[in-house]
Amino acid sequence: MRTLITNGTIVTADGSYAADILIDGETIASIGHDLAGGGATADDTIDATGKYVIPGGIDVHTHMELPFGGTFAKDTFESGTRAAAFGGTTSIVDFAVQSRGASLREGLDTWHAKAEGNAVTDYGFHMIMSDVNDDTLAEMDGLVAEGVPDFKLFTAYPGVFYSDDGAIFRALQQTAGNGGLIMMHAENGMAIDVVAAQTVAAGTTDPIGHGLARKAVFEGEATNRVIRLAEAAGAPIYIVHLSAKEALAELKAARDRGTKAFAETCPQYLFLSLDDMGNGFEGAKYVCSPPLRTQDHWEELWTGLVKDDLQLVATDHCPFDFHGQKELGRGDFRKVPNGLPGVEDRVDLLHDGGVVAGRISKERWVEIISTAPAKLFGMYPHKGAVAIGADADLVVYDPNRKRVISAASHHMDVDYSCYEGRSVQGASDVVLSRGSVVVRNGEFTGHKGHGKFIKRSPADYVRIN
Ligand code: URP
Ligand code: ZN
Ligand code: ZN
Repeated sequence: MRTLITNGTIVTADGSYAADILIDGETIASIGHDLAGGGATADDTIDATGKYVIPGGIDVHTHMELPFGGTFAKDTFESGTRAAAFGGTTSIVDFAVQSRGASLREGLDTWHAKAEGNAVTDYGFHMIMSDVNDDTLAEMDGLVAEGVPDFKLFTAYPGVFYSDDGAIFRALQQTAGNGGLIMMHAENGMAIDVVAAQTVAAGTTDPIGHGLARKAVFEGEATNRVIRLAEAAGAPIYIVHLSAKEALAELKAARDRGTKAFAETCPQYLFLSLDDMGNGFEGAKYVCSPPLRTQDHWEELWTGLVKDDLQLVATDHCPFDFHGQKELGRGDFRKVPNGLPGVEDRVDLLHDGGVVAGRISKERWVEIISTAPAKLFGMYPHKGAVAIGADADLVVYDPNRKRVISAASHHMDVDYSCYEGRSVQGASDVVLSRGSVVVRNGEFTGHKGHGKFIKRSPADYVRIN
């Protein structure tokens, strides 16, 4: 199968230019002016006049079917990658979970079984480590070698995913030796649990209590602590879902010291705020950890993205229905399952709030939604690039089309949208995954099982800003 994309503006992290793209099979075969005039033939031609052609979005933080708080995140690998594709995201990296007492291998095999034959676009895995011990530390080396080179640990969620400082330090020492990367959920979970209990005892049981108890200072403290542990171990570190200016300040200070400290933020921390968590139990729709912050954090995070102190935006997609799932926490905000849907909206929200709003260039937009994730997570240049030989994961993107985000029209398997009624400018017209058109003008044309496991390399930090 050969596909020709004509008359578009190719937008990459490095620059933009007018050119056609010829796809042969799963990869990009040729890029140039008037390829058809030069003799190129194709089975399918996509006219991209007036559109951008960008590398497919890469969301390196999703939780399909995550067990949490007595229930499971609702999207499967089929529904989640399908929704991602509608939103211009052609690769996800999901978190496999090691259950307490089990091996990393068992957790990884379970996640392979969930995804294989079901995903409609490509997927990789990070590994959540619930126990750090001699056995799991030894297993880490094998996972790095088989394309799962990152490990998430938590200073949050005592009794569930929480690791103490010694465990985190040992895991960091292991990655210093094997080339892997520790990803940290950095909030002081012990202190949060104290304040959360006090908040409930004082009579605040609605979801706003979640936002009030998980103070920004607790994120700043834990961010500094884990970065210092990484420095002591001589290992790089990546902070997931950074939400607070206090945490960003610690990250910037570390980067100024020369530490290989990297971080993502998420759309919810750029567009939503603690105000959304008011309104009684409706606020449960916005319960995630770290929590939504006050609006004064937004511009600092955008500045972090402009200056590359924050390297990318991922979603932390972890959808629970409001009815039946979020409702588990009626009467006690501590029982609301943590997580928000978002995998479908990231690319458009960042285009609208970033490029259209004049905060970032369209090239930086491509970098933070695709190229930087590909580089930092060992997928570049197969993914995250528009280049000869790269996977033909491409999006024909209309920068002018406006749409209104709504649960009534989204494809995520969840009964609400955090962005209900928000109008965004910019939308994906045609989405290709390894040369196959999976979405075309609002219709799904892909199929379950097309998505393949992405065997990733340890990141090459020399290439990362
Ligand atoms: O609220 C969140 N973030 N839920 C998913 C689990 C995690 O901590 O990433
Ligand atoms: Zn987390
Ligand atoms: Zn997460």
